[in-house]
Amino acid sequence: MNKIQISGGRPLYGDIEIGGMKNAALPIIFATILAGDVCTIENLPLISDVVTSLEILESLGARVTHLKKGTVRIDTTGLPYTVPDFDLVRKLRGSIYIAGAQLGRFGQTEVGLPGGCDIGNRPIDQHQQGFAAMGAETVIEGGRFHAKAPEGGLRGTSMFFNTSSVGTTINMILAAVLADGLTVIENAAREPHIVDVSGFLNACGAHITGAGTPVIRIHGVKKLHGCDYAIIPDMIEAGTYMVAAAAAGGQVTVRNVIPKHLETVTAKLREMGVGVEEHDESVTVSSNRILRPVAIKTLPYPGFPTDMQPQFGALMTLADGVSMVSETVFSGRFRYADELTKMGAVIKVDGGCAVITGVEKLTGAPLRANDLRAGAALVIAALAAEGVSVIEGTEYIERGYENIVAKLKNLGAEINVLTPPDNDNYLRTAN
Ligand code: EPU
Repeated sequence: MNKIQISGGRPLYGDIEIGGMKNAALPIIFATILAGDVCTIENLPLISDVVTSLEILESLGARVTHLKKGTVRIDTTGLPYTVPDFDLVRKLRGSIYIAGAQLGRFGQTEVGLPGGCDIGNRPIDQHQQGFAAMGAETVIEGGRFHAKAPEGGLRGTSMFFNTSSVGTTINMILAAVLADGLTVIENAAREPHIVDVSGFLNACGAHITGAGTPVIRIHGVKKLHGCDYAIIPDMIEAGTYMVAAAAAGGQVTVRNVIPKHLETVTAKLREMGVGVEEHDESVTVSSNRILRPVAIKTLPYPGFPTDMQPQFGALMTLADGVSMVSETVFSGRFRYADELTKMGAVIKVDGGCAVITGVEKLTGAPLRANDLRAGAALVIAALAAEGVSVIEGTEYIERGYENIVAKLKNLGAEINVLTPPDNDNYLRTAN
């Protein structure tokens, strides 16, 4: 198992560059199935979830060429219908997007139920409900999700979802772009990645309006074509480094961001007493480590993102008073709490709520990352702590953070990899 060693207590200074958004990159990679042509995707983050997604796409028959760092040409011309490898798709949640893309292009799909981080209940009942509303027959059996479009293909329709869901919304868009007629998605998720996936598909000739609002309309078209597309910056990667600077102290400029996407993170950091200056495509965070307690409640965008909750949890352990966290999206997102307790943090978790009483200091400890964002929280705590921490399970962190060790080192952190990552060779050849 890979490990990261961090000697904490050093403030962070300098500039850091943010990569493309993981949760836009994964669906866009699978959306190329629908194009049936050549697409060039830029600003792809070199993270393990992207590497796995490209591997899956190649295993389905797509031709993937790495043009330069972060730019990939994907050719899905003449792609045959293939059932993806069960073990590969189970490695990540994003593989569920194969279902919408294959159903849209081939009228059928059979995918192993997706894996991804263990952060609580992650059903796909709404995906099933939406595909069924478009006329597909769907069933889950033997750990696989099967769907088959009716004779004549999927039919556009109106659908309403009880829960605003990123995965459901994207899968419905994927299935609807080549369907017959108009599809209307009500209570659609509004995250920036929904807008980005729609932007990619529109650049391929789709007709999607309303992405970024709760009502998305998709007029089915007969055929798509290839395009060149650059993925938006990752607001969660950016937010994570903003919180790291707030916790460790110092001054860090986070570059290549869309400050609007960071509004909730910025607002909460300011409420805690951290300085955040917004520029056109960057934000500068200044912290003297004197932090006020705060309350956060996770909600779908534009609410506070669940993907930033663990990182803020780590920051709150050092605030001067009692902070409150209410997690309403995923029940299993407090798995970092026990680890931080080993460093001297005081956290009481009760169901979807955590009460975090700030302490004077955290001390380095052996830690274990249980999922991607919990891992990011441990890195933040270790950077702020006195002494040495060794974090195991860093393969989770590599799912979503490109070159995290090098990026933090560049800011002055004392951080080292104790075992090289498994996909190191792959990423080197991809450079
Ligand atoms: N839900 C249902 N039924 C469904 C689908 C979702 O009840 O059919 C519920 C979920 O249980 C959850 C809520 O809806 O309570 C929201 O889930 P959503 O579908 O939005 O999440 P997701 O698509 O599974 C994506 C990201 C997550 C991120 C969430 C929320 C990807 C690959 N994953 O997951 O990213 O936390 O949206 O924004 O895009 C991460 O990056 O660390 C991560 C976990």
